[in-house]
Amino acid sequence: MHKDFTDTQVNAFVCDLTADDLNKQIPSSSIDIVTMIFVLSAVSPEKMPLVMQNIRKVLKPTGHVLFRDYAVGDLAQVPCTFGMLFYFFLFFGNHINP
Ligand SMILES: C[S@@+](CC[C@H](N)C(=O)[O-])C[C@H]1O[C@@H](n2cnc3c(N)ncnc32)[C@H](O)[C@@H]1O
Repeated sequence: MHKDFTDTQVNAFVCDLTADDLNKQIPSSSIDIVTMIFVLSAVSPEKMPLVMQNIRKVLKPTGHVLFRDYAVGDLAQVPCTFGMLFYFFLFFGNHINP
């Protein structure tokens, strides 16, 4: 564990949002902001409600969920050339350091 880690400031843990109860790690209605960057697209559609229900338990009534993900009409959905180019640049943008 990092020398600067303090569990009064950071609560880091591993969980499966579709199966593990977030309330075991986080008090109810205590979170101001949840961020999910390309997380929902990694979850099968039938389990997405489980993720949102889990998050709802720990989110304050005034809390916010900020998410970014794929959408209808994204280049990833355009068939053939444009879709393939999108994945090409996504892959090399993520995996090659010039
Ligand atoms: C495509 S990655 C996105 C990672 C990072 N947010 C980014 O933008 O580079 C999808 C992430 O969603 C999270 N994820 C997917 N399914 C999950 C699940 N069932 N429970 C918790 N996290 C999950 C994992 O952390 C995984 O790394």
